[in-house]
Formats: sequence, C-alpha cells, structure tokens
Amino acid sequence: MTLAPSAVQAEALVLRYRRIRSRSMALCASLTPEDMMVQSMPDASPAKWHLAHTTWFFERFVLERDSAYRSPHPDWNYLFNSYYQAVGPMHARPRRGLLSRPGIAQVRDYREKVDEAVCERLSRGVDATTADIIGLGLEHEQQHQELLLTDIKHAFFCNPLLPAYTAPHASSAVASSVRMEFIAGREGIIETGHSGDDFAFDNELPRHRALLQPHALANRLVTNAEFAEFIRDGGYHEPSLWLSEGWDTVCREQWQRPFYWQEDLSSEFTLAGVRPIDPDAPVSHVSYFEADAFARWAGARLPTEAEWESAASGLPVQGNLLDAMSFHPQAATAGEGMLQMFGDVWEWTASPYVSYPGFRPLAGALGEYNGKFMCGQWVLRGGSCVTPREHVRATYRNFFPPHARWQFMGIRLGQDR
Ligand SMILES: [Fe+2]
Repeated sequence: MTLAPSAVQAEALVLRYRRIRSRSMALCASLTPEDMMVQSMPDASPAKWHLAHTTWFFERFVLERDSAYRSPHPDWNYLFNSYYQAVGPMHARPRRGLLSRPGIAQVRDYREKVDEAVCERLSRGVDATTADIIGLGLEHEQQHQELLLTDIKHAFFCNPLLPAYTAPHASSAVASSVRMEFIAGREGIIETGHSGDDFAFDNELPRHRALLQPHALANRLVTNAEFAEFIRDGGYHEPSLWLSEGWDTVCREQWQRPFYWQEDLSSEFTLAGVRPIDPDAPVSHVSYFEADAFARWAGARLPTEAEWESAASGLPVQGNLLDAMSFHPQAATAGEGMLQMFGDVWEWTASPYVSYPGFRPLAGALGEYNGKFMCGQWVLRGGSCVTPREHVRATYRNFFPPHARWQFMGIRLGQDR
C-alpha cells in the first residue's frame, strides 16, 4: 500500500509542479498569439491547445476527484479533451487550429486558476492516489512540452518565411564525429522493463524476462553524412531496400530525403531557421521505413527495444536533451562506449509497440493513456534534443506510426553476431 505524502513531500511536489508548469509557458515566450493558434497538420496541435489541454488534464483527473470542485469553464471540457472516450465527447483533432476562442490570455488565466487550485489541494494534504496522478500529470505536461516544440517546428516550416523559433546554438559548429564501432551486447535471458519506486508509465511494466540473441549495437547514431551517402547511392530509388509499405509510402509521398532537408542536401530547416547541415550530427526526422531501409543498405538492422534497453540500463541519463537548450541534434565528437543513448534523436527500434507480458493499464479513464495505442506503431527509445531530461529513462517507451517523421527521430544500427 502506498502512503499519503507527508507535508514535506507535498511541499516538494508543489515546487516541482510549479517548475514544470512554468517551463511550458517559458517555451512559448518567443511565440506570438498567431503562432500559437496554427495547426499545420492533423497530427500536430497548436501551442495554445497544448497549454490548455495539459491544464484540462489536471482539472479532470486531479481537481474533479473532489466532487465540490467547480470548473471555471465547464464547456472547455469538449475542446481540450484529447482522446479520453470515458470522459466524454471531444472536438475533432484535425480541427484544433480553428479554435480562435478562447484566446491565449484566457488560456493563461485558466492555467493560473488550475495551478492555484492544485497547489492549494496539495497544501491541504492529498491521498497517495491523487499525488500519483499529479505526478502523472507532470510527466504528461513534459510530453506536451516536446510536442509543442516539434509541432511549432512543423508550423514554421510550413510558413514560406521559414521563421526561427530560437537563435542558433553556440555549439553547433561543425566538428568530426567519433568513428562508428559495434559494441557487443548482453546475450541470454535478461530482465527488462521498469523496476523500483520511481515514476514509470504503465506501458513500461511489468519487469519481465526477454531473450537476447548474440548481437552488437553501434556506439553512436547514424550521421547526416552517412545518410547522404545512402541518398547518393540511390537508396530512395531501390525497392529491394524497402518494406513493401515503406516503398508504397516513398512512391506516394515522393520522399527523396529526410523531412526537413532542402533539395540541395546541404541545408535543413531547424528550430533556428534554415541552417547548413552538419555532416557529423545525427540524421533526424526520418520515418521507421527510412531507418529500416538505411539499415538494410548498410548491411545492418535496427536494434530491438530489449537490446537497446539492455545497453542503456545503468548509463546516466545525460546528453543533448531539452535542458541543453540546443533544440537540435549534435555530433558525438568524443567519448568511449555507447554514446548519444539519451537525447539528440529518438531511436527507432525494430520492435512493434505491444504490451509486455502481464501488462495492466491504469484504472479508469487513465487506462486510455497508453494501452489503447498498442496497434500499428513502433517503439522509439532514448529521448531527443527537445525531451526534458528528468522525463526520460532507460525503460521509457515512445511510440509512433512507421510513416511519422515530424518528431526528432533517428537511427542507431544493430547487427547479429
Ligand atoms: Fe495529452
């Protein structure tokens, strides 16, 4: 049985709550109200919607646990519910960009009201379940911080003026990456999945056994220069390299290069505007199909998620994550052992996103958080340059459909031994 948090723990949670919630607003500091309303494609959401939806999450799942709570905007339930069918009907996802009302000032005010109510609730003392849901809400907020940035990148890319979200990062000067080497992984029966008392999503549980065949993983991510070689070698024109669904997508969408690369293969759109491609930085914004085809071309394969987790377990969670404020993948220019395991780009794995043996979704509507998406998607590991550092860990399972490219998604190679 989990005990209710002590006054000291509740105070720490208030501080954490305020720190994480204020970061979402800080990430929007350079955005105009017009920027914050744009929805550039059905998969992306306006920044304003992210700010309101994460607030809605705390209202619905924390504040409404108290039947005396009265929402300042009960009619916003419909606008800012994302996909929780058990909570009620919702505004259609592809039409989030039509919400000129409420305005950003009203959304800010909504955030402040909900923040005060959550912190006041914490100061009065909460039960263990409520404290856990507040913790979940903060992890959810951090997921949306990453989405807010990848969605604004896409929105700005769709604007012919190609505006910059941020100034170029000082360390983005070109430097040579370390040589790619393959490092043998553990083999045999291993334990995988989350263990311990720290936060984990339900999809990281339960810890269970997996069999690893003899294998090795590359010490670093695939670079832009290596991916350019694949392009120049005709990779996008050779059907034998592609999964059938991938080849169909390449032909239908006329894919010729990673999503944000320009036609000359020497510049790309970044959160700092159009910049020269650093040949030594990790390739980013490639789909599962492209990652898989590249690996086949290179005589390798993608790692399984159990192989990746085994290599990552015990490593410190450090790297080019959101906290570095580079907003772009960086070259691995020095270091021994497995490099770039955390940060830079989410790494496509060869593993479909399915439940672990013995998986049990959270109770109630929150059971819709992860479990219902376990169909037709692939697991990515390790976080990206826009993932908050404290949000990711070795057991973290991200997931996207195989054609998705707008997240910071890249490639680490694996091979059989
Ligand atoms: Fe959400």
